[in-house]
Amino acid sequence: MFKVLVVDDDSSLRLSVKSTLSETGYLDIDEAFDGVDAVEKVKDNDYGLVLLDVDMPRMSGLEALKEIKAHDPSVIVIIMTAFATIDDAVLAVKEGAYNYLSKPIKAEALTELIQQAIDAQNLISDVAVSAPVLMDNGRKIIGNTLQMKKVFNIINRLSKVDTPVLVRGASGTGKELIARAIHSNSSHKSGHFVAINCSAIPENLFESELFGHEKGAFTGADQRKIGKFQYAEGGTLFLDELGDLPLMAQVKLLRVLQEKVFTPVGSNREIEANVRIVAATNRPLEEMIKNNEFREDLYYRLNVMPIFLPSLDERKEDLKNMIQHFIKKFNDKQDRKILGMAPDALQLLKRYDWPGNIRELENVIEHAFILEETSNIQIKSLPEKILSQLGVELSHSPVAPQPETEELTSNSQEGLEDESGLFNLNQIAEDDLDFSKQKEMFEKEFIIKALKTFKGRVNQTALHANIPKKTLLRKMEKYNINAKDYTGSN
Ligand SMILES: Nc1ncnc2c1ncn2[C@@H]1O[C@H](COP(=O)(O)OP(=O)(O)OP(=O)(O)O)[C@@H](O)[C@H]1O
Ligand SMILES: [Mg+2]
Repeated sequence: MFKVLVVDDDSSLRLSVKSTLSETGYLDIDEAFDGVDAVEKVKDNDYGLVLLDVDMPRMSGLEALKEIKAHDPSVIVIIMTAFATIDDAVLAVKEGAYNYLSKPIKAEALTELIQQAIDAQNLISDVAVSAPVLMDNGRKIIGNTLQMKKVFNIINRLSKVDTPVLVRGASGTGKELIARAIHSNSSHKSGHFVAINCSAIPENLFESELFGHEKGAFTGADQRKIGKFQYAEGGTLFLDELGDLPLMAQVKLLRVLQEKVFTPVGSNREIEANVRIVAATNRPLEEMIKNNEFREDLYYRLNVMPIFLPSLDERKEDLKNMIQHFIKKFNDKQDRKILGMAPDALQLLKRYDWPGNIRELENVIEHAFILEETSNIQIKSLPEKILSQLGVELSHSPVAPQPETEELTSNSQEGLEDESGLFNLNQIAEDDLDFSKQKEMFEKEFIIKALKTFKGRVNQTALHANIPKKTLLRKMEKYNINAKDYTGSN
């Protein structure tokens, strides 16, 4: 059950917050009367949420927040503050509190904020990072590898400062997702996240797109137009494909970053820019600087905090969780009930090198959803391009319908074999170290290999491979192996 701790030295406030919460269905609510009491209770209990007053005797809310976060960074802390301590509340958000509410606490605002915080929290993948990376609107970042934990740590550190960020990574590695995470975790989170694709805007319209224009500023400018910078005011401007920014626009952008003001086209009014810049690129900016295609001064301005996203090939440990994540996504989207992926299909995908990274994986799962008829994604539902690259040929003989609960498929032999056609213990990923599952994989492989060797003759296979015929037949049935498929083998 979701447990909540209400911390305030004012017992009547505790009581009213408690009653609001219980009305909205939160049943497990504890109280603490100051910071010390709160920290003790947090250490002894498993709270999902702490509502924390700022100004309290013995230990202030801010100190308590630090201790609570040090003990368990995943606890959501919402600060409750009187007007006089609002600066402290802002500080607290920088220290990792989710947000704050001003006193007197309004029931509606309280329940809304809690729901928002819980939704955000639910989206965090179950990774142990120093502080949770919160995401908005149904997104979730999967990442259990060391590199991704580093990325999460940087995002958390970035939540405390407003420096520009440069996200680097190959196509489909999640640059935009990370940019959104930076926004959702920053003090700019209540503003807009405005994305602009630098490669998609004609050079002559760039300035007006970014900074807006006055009516009549140029031919065709028959209306005043708000630029992306104004639209992103108080929020985050995401400059995607930064490497494609024309040189002229680079100069203008640099000026905004340096002076924090910009001028709409055709205007003589300077407008202040209170916008967090996150840029992303997969282009080699350093090389572009050498070729005079990218300005070095802009590069240094933006490269204060670079984030490098690993390719999917470098983070195969995440593959299984990612697949499950996308299965859930498409189940929700298409109202399907796919449970997972057959182990042999997963093994196969681990051997693929994923040039299109996570986006390619997402497409593969979407593709599999179209073809898959059982409740687990099988090898035969994977794109042919991938299968052929991995040297897997599907037999086109009609496949017998498989029992819903059976995880292994009649075509799965290909996925189990390495180049030598042998079961390869080295290929078993750490997270697949499941004895009975691997034993089944081995059995199936072994039988197929034996059948191949004896050209699909069951009696010969049983005799020479030393398996009682009855057992062999039973296992063949279990694994959906058809002896006839191997009559031509040598
Ligand atoms: N760590 C992750 N966990 C879950 N989903 C992810 C992750 N990284 C990326 N994705 C998903 O993969 C897809 C591609 O990600 P995104 O668009 O952020 O990549 P990109 O690096 O901006 O790609 P491009 O260079 O092609 O613009 C998106 O649907 C995104 O939600
Ligand atoms: Mg992108």
